[in-house]
Amino acid sequence: MNSITKSLLKSIKHGQAAWLRSSSTHSGKQCLPKLVLGIETSCDDTGAAVVDDAGNILGEALHCQKEVHLKTGGIIPLVAQQLHRENIEQIVKEALSISGVSVNELAAIATTVKPGLALSLGVGLEYSLKLVNKYKKPFIPIHHMEAHALTIRLTNQVEFPFLVLLLSGGHCILAVAQGVSDFLLLGQSIDIAPGDMLDKVARRLSLSKHPECHSMAGGKAIEHLAQTGNRQHYTFRVPMQHYRNCDFSFSGLQNLVNKVIIQKEKEEGLQKGELLSCIKDIAAAAQHAVAVHIVKRTYRAMLFCIKHSILSPKNATLVVSGGVASNQYIRKGLQILADANGFAFLCPPPRLCTDNGVMIAWNGIERLRAGLGVLHCTDGIRYEAKLYLL
Ligand code: KG4
Ligand code: ZN
Repeated sequence: MNSITKSLLKSIKHGQAAWLRSSSTHSGKQCLPKLVLGIETSCDDTGAAVVDDAGNILGEALHCQKEVHLKTGGIIPLVAQQLHRENIEQIVKEALSISGVSVNELAAIATTVKPGLALSLGVGLEYSLKLVNKYKKPFIPIHHMEAHALTIRLTNQVEFPFLVLLLSGGHCILAVAQGVSDFLLLGQSIDIAPGDMLDKVARRLSLSKHPECHSMAGGKAIEHLAQTGNRQHYTFRVPMQHYRNCDFSFSGLQNLVNKVIIQKEKEEGLQKGELLSCIKDIAAAAQHAVAVHIVKRTYRAMLFCIKHSILSPKNATLVVSGGVASNQYIRKGLQILADANGFAFLCPPPRLCTDNGVMIAWNGIERLRAGLGVLHCTDGIRYEAKLYLL
């Protein structure tokens, strides 16, 4: 059992979503729990997990490609595809064997089919369809961002509707989750996602060469260095302050940070790729600007939801998820915002914010319970790389 699996089993042993499992008992008789295998390959993580309808994570396995992509300075889709191909069988076997469940015992197989990198999505879909056809199992196609959005219902008791903010390497979305497959889109990034911006800044600062963070994802490396940096040494203008909507923008901010880096390299007589002395201060100021932008746009969404009675001020909840939501500084800013506006604030634990098989299996359970998108025939099923919103 790997360490990720151990820690997951420890913390979510009792299935904190047991509150949802009202339909598993019938006429006083206890029915067997429904089990779903989830498979995730939309980007650079090969993940698989078996979850039951009470939210017990029975087994999980994850292969992360991050170190390979850090060396090449970004994800090369063909490399990601090859690594998914090399690992998917082993990862699925590991998740099944840890859970002590055979494919025959599964109620369904759930797999990410959108959005993501086409070549990566294709590997997970092809492998899943082989299993589905061999074992004659129902198939549940999963929307990766919906899975991020509903992970919170595995770990906490949250009823619809709630405001959800999704912050990842590929997306930035504000929406109201109104049901398992019912999302009201309030805003999204008009250019790049916050994780993408932080990854680009981290690459431009050559953080993979920094002894304290050589194997960390870009956003995580920025967070780590920012802890001991002084953000007040640099001020980056917060984007979109005059836009009266809930959209985001991060590419202008990235350019501002780049300009400062170039300026500092000149001053210190360094070539691109050499580590600046003020690296921690730049990381802290960039992280702060990202956090302030996210908090301001989320505040607009909160006001909108209350004004239009989409959420009740008595029990409004803000849920934040996606890889960038594992950033403690950004979380803190959002927590303060939620407290100030009477919103409950919920975030899955960091390991469930980044990509994983558990969130896909859990979305499968949610869909199975709601009877939504459970396919008994997979003819014509395709992956969709592009995001057609929620
Ligand atoms: O959700 P995710 O695992 O994959 C996508 O669906 O994109 O998010 C990955 C992104 C990367 O850009 C990574 O740099 C960022 O999440 N990330 C972080 C942190 N950990 C991962 N960003 C800021 N702070 C972190 N601690
Ligand atoms: Zn993701």
